[in-house]
Amino acid sequence: MTQTLTIARPDDWHLHLRDGAMLQAVLPETARHFARAIIMPNLVPPVVKGADATAYRDRILAALPEGMSFEPLMTLYLTENTDPADVEAAAASGLIKALKLYPAGATTNSASGVSNFDNVRPVLEKMAEIGLPLCVHGEVTDSDIDIFDREAVFIDRVLDPIRKATPGLKVVMEHITTKDGVDYVKSNPENLGATITTHHLIINRNHILAGGIKPHYYCLPVAKRETHRIALREAATSGDARFFLGTDSAPHTDANKLLPCGCAGCFTATNTMALLAHVFEEDSALDKLEGFASRNGPAFYGLPVNEARLTLTKSDSAAVFPKQIETGDGPVTVFDPGFPVYWNVTG
Ligand code: NCD
Ligand code: ZN
Repeated sequence: MTQTLTIARPDDWHLHLRDGAMLQAVLPETARHFARAIIMPNLVPPVVKGADATAYRDRILAALPEGMSFEPLMTLYLTENTDPADVEAAAASGLIKALKLYPAGATTNSASGVSNFDNVRPVLEKMAEIGLPLCVHGEVTDSDIDIFDREAVFIDRVLDPIRKATPGLKVVMEHITTKDGVDYVKSNPENLGATITTHHLIINRNHILAGGIKPHYYCLPVAKRETHRIALREAATSGDARFFLGTDSAPHTDANKLLPCGCAGCFTATNTMALLAHVFEEDSALDKLEGFASRNGPAFYGLPVNEARLTLTKSDSAAVFPKQIETGDGPVTVFDPGFPVYWNVTG
């Protein structure tokens, strides 16, 4: 028995494509299924100015295989030196669709992030004025805050004050991992949305730590306890338009993942849509998948829904996904959900 589901072609509202050989290898994994993606700027050095974003967009388009279509939606990395005039020009030309806030030291390549929020106030005011969203990595970095509490503490200490000080600012809480994040979005209807990753709908912290350490499940923000995963599932499958897909697919070579101090990131571009169909069907919410993956994000960003379509098919035999993607930098392991998946993209 086969079953099919056709939806508007999805977009990924939080994606790491990297650069060079890695970009070349991972870009087709996303472009195969997604029409557009918000491209994270945490390169080394980061994408901070409009000119950096132009050059990076051109490298992405040059890496796109013949016959594939994909639109990178560029972002700038917010630093304490970001110039509001540069942001305004890059937004006015259509080049950038958001700025990205990393608290300094929060995650991979975030050393140039913000320490003193007073120093970015003029940029935030300008963004509120022109309607440019701020994508937020919502974790405090204080070493005295338990890593599992960093998102909840960020909401109270940083996010809520920023939003109150700049009321018109559109904010995306990225890759939320807690019920606290879900509840904050639900109770603040003005100018606030959140992305949820595929892997945080599937794993909790036991998957990382119970029965041996599993580096391929380690990402930031780190997966939390099961009650939080359930809250994320409920939010994603609820049909509430403020929640949308941002995979945070974050490729690192296996050599860099399997170190005594390994990199954070799950690589999910390859099988995300199949896994989401599984998750949404499990929660009797297949009819909500199109909203989550294809409609809610464009609505938040004020962009049209894609006219192209994507078809998923459920068959009797489990889908076979590659275990790894080969890249010029070495193999990258594809996220393994740990259960058989009968859905796959077929058109
Ligand atoms: C991301 C990366 O590798 O760039 N890692 C991750 O665990 N998600 C950075 C990020 O989005 O936090
Ligand atoms: Zn990310």
